[in-house]
Amino acid sequence: MCRLQMYALLLLLLLGCKAESSIDDYPCPPTGTKLTYDSFGSSFLAENCQTCHGRQSSERKGAPSSFDFGTIADVRAHKARIFARAAAENVTMPPGPDDPPAAARHELAEWLACGAP
Ligand code: HEC
Repeated sequence: MCRLQMYALLLLLLLGCKAESSIDDYPCPPTGTKLTYDSFGSSFLAENCQTCHGRQSSERKGAPSSFDFGTIADVRAHKARIFARAAAENVTMPPGPDDPPAAARHELAEWLACGAP
């Protein structure tokens, strides 16, 4: 194989294994955030996450029982993992076709990065 093809293959491998981005790499804007649990977080999570995470075990579609996002305390306790699965460029949650729009994922990132006020 020629060197160029090898580099191309390596690049593809790297892209395919792109790591999830972390809440630690996403600073809260200097001006803070206007988003709050009441104006944003609660409805975002209810619509996109609690349909599995907030159910009885038979209806959770496999969502782990230790991960519910029904209160602000739950959200703050899990904010790093919520970020890693659903915020900014991270799109592995929710699973399936009904993805929230990219703009909402960026709002989620900002809100979590600012401590989920
Ligand atoms: C259709 C059902 C479903 C929906 C909706 C859903 N999840 Fe999940 N979630 C799962 C399942 C199944 C798992 C376990 C498998 C896995 O981790 O991929 C899981 C696991 C998780 C975990 C624990 C594993 C980890 O990576 O730490 C987190 C955090 C999570 N989901 C966040 C979310 C967030 C945030 C949303 C909304 C944006 C969401 N999920 C929406 C089914 C769902």
